[in-house]
Amino acid sequence: MKYHIIVFGCQMNISDSERVSAVLENIGYQKASNALGADVSAEALAKADLIVVTMCSVRQSAVDRVHGLVQKIKKLKAKSQKLKVVLTGCILKKDKKIFVQGFDYVIDIKDIKKLPEILQNPFTCKVSDRTLYKLDGYLDITPKYTSKFSANVPIMTGCNNFCAYCVVPYARDREISRPAKKIISEVKNLIKGGYKEIWLLGQNVNSYSNVLENNRIVGFPKLLEMVNDIPGNFWIRFTSSHPKDFNDEVISAMASYKKVTPYLNLPVQAGDNKVLRSMNRRYTVRDYKNKIKKLREKIPGIALSTDIIVGFPGETKKQFENTAKLFREIKYDMAYINKYSPRAGTAASKLKDNVTTKEKKRREKALTKVLKQTALAKNRKIIGKTTNVLVDSKRNNFYFGKNDHYKTIKIISNKNLLGKLTKVKITDASPFILKGKLTNEQ
Ligand code: 5AD
Ligand code: SF4
Repeated sequence: MKYHIIVFGCQMNISDSERVSAVLENIGYQKASNALGADVSAEALAKADLIVVTMCSVRQSAVDRVHGLVQKIKKLKAKSQKLKVVLTGCILKKDKKIFVQGFDYVIDIKDIKKLPEILQNPFTCKVSDRTLYKLDGYLDITPKYTSKFSANVPIMTGCNNFCAYCVVPYARDREISRPAKKIISEVKNLIKGGYKEIWLLGQNVNSYSNVLENNRIVGFPKLLEMVNDIPGNFWIRFTSSHPKDFNDEVISAMASYKKVTPYLNLPVQAGDNKVLRSMNRRYTVRDYKNKIKKLREKIPGIALSTDIIVGFPGETKKQFENTAKLFREIKYDMAYINKYSPRAGTAASKLKDNVTTKEKKRREKALTKVLKQTALAKNRKIIGKTTNVLVDSKRNNFYFGKNDHYKTIKIISNKNLLGKLTKVKITDASPFILKGKLTNEQ
């Protein structure tokens, strides 16, 4: 029996899909395709007896892609009677009821351990309901990691923040932190297996909190220390951070623990206090800038990226200009710029989506222009310097990887570099990609 997983969205969804793979391979299923991503190629789909879709609900466009898939699935099912199709991932309650029409089963990701039971019993209810299937440690499933050198390790799931635009607290419920002991044991095994990069994942990693038996609390800084103490030559990265919980202790931990890489994604979302207030972000532009200042003092040269939403309801041109100003001041290395999309059930969905699509596009373009300038200026300064790169792919005779600052590096080499941590001298720079040569090949 063959299975294929289609994944949309963030690293957490990839990590969750790696656990789905483990559950299926435990009961004898084999992969129909090696690709784990949004691959809906006819070849992979045609080979599969079971298709699992791990969906994302953050933007309406991601939900629409699943609606598009339903039509494809209908055609596949007409050809193969035994094909079963499962929907999981980040699903809103209201969408569960809709998607149950197009899928055999709609299963909450936290119930994924029950998948074998559900598949064997044709009478199980089609939509999983966590009052029926209790949350029982889905994060304990050892995943079938896609990569042999970089692993996603969830440390918590869910979110308590209720940013006005965001569906995550509805789709993934409240925050639950995973026991530190289990995280450390997973990372130790990965390092023994030769992994070079560990991503600690959660919707809001800075609010990680695990109460031990002796009532001591392991917070995120302590967790970083514990992971850093694991012997071996590897990198620690983490995402996502919320500025309100990103405090001095986290900054000190990042500066002290050498395996934590000098890169941070700190989503600001907007550079205007009034917009931040209506987004319910609970920090001001000044708080954010102070945190960045402290961070740069403690970790000089740290690379910074951010997430932005342009065209939030009521965002005026002047307020947007404040975001552009913040961009010019902070000089980001990278930014993930999103055009606001209303999500049913969120607080912002009750506000009028009054910024036109054209204006949202203009704002996105204006920020991209600033970003390109600041990123290029910073990258040019690296030319001639040597940097560590973890090589993760090969395309058309070029190797690609990320350096410790999470910059993409293109390398020309005759050696097999895949999965290796190598020293590279930077020879050329553009805004989002650097070129380099192995130091011993010059
Ligand atoms: N519209 C546009 N972007 C959104 N994001 C979250 N919700 C929305 C929405 N409704 C963006 C935020 C977040 C990233 C993961 O997605 O910038 O940080
Ligand atoms: Fe969404 Fe805000 Fe939670 Fe991030 S912190 S997942 S943006 S509600």
